[in-house]
Amino acid sequence: MGIDIAEMTVADYDEVFALWQEAEGLGLHPNECDSRKGVAMYLARNPGTCFVARDGERLIGAVLCGNDGRRGYLNHLAVAEAYRRRRIGTVLIHRCTDALKQMGIRRCNLFVFAANDAAVEFWRKLGWRCYDEFGVKAMSLNIE
Ligand SMILES: CC(C)(COP(=O)(O)OP(=O)(O)OC[C@H]1O[C@@H](n2cnc3c(N)ncnc32)[C@H](O)[C@@H]1OP(=O)(O)O)[C@@H](O)C(=O)NCCC(=O)NCCS
Repeated sequence: MGIDIAEMTVADYDEVFALWQEAEGLGLHPNECDSRKGVAMYLARNPGTCFVARDGERLIGAVLCGNDGRRGYLNHLAVAEAYRRRRIGTVLIHRCTDALKQMGIRRCNLFVFAANDAAVEFWRKLGWRCYDEFGVKAMSLNIE
């Protein structure tokens, strides 16, 4: 059976979150932005740029992609271990970047853990440039 790519919906959340939890190398925040509510907000704000891959019923890949009207951002790309090295990650990213291009977004950023060798090589192979001179700062915004 072929692999199908579809836009991610909130109904995919449980399977997507399970995939993210199994995947090494992702920085998940289950009680903040990666909660069901957090992902639902993200999908509502970013229609047409977040995707899942399925082999029949089985969810085997996922990626979040959004933009702020100027830059695109990619998060939480994951492919199930048994399906890796079959270009599924590549296809998911091309779907995201094609959708961004159609919106007129001409640049895209992402974070990758420097020690995640497989991901570093994946992004290098796809032509993404690494900016070692940039630092990243982050903070949890506590909301009652
Ligand atoms: C990174 C990841 C998404 C790649 O998905 P994938 O579907 O296996 O990637 P592709 O098959 O499209 O790989 C494209 C190319 O990237 C490179 N690549 C991918 N995985 C690699 C690995 N483990 N080691 C070395 N190179 C790799 C290869 O050059 C590959 O082409 P090739 O198979 O013809 O040599 C997948 O390994 C994964 O889910 N990892 C865990 C989560 C993660 O780290 N996500 C990225 C967060 S930034």
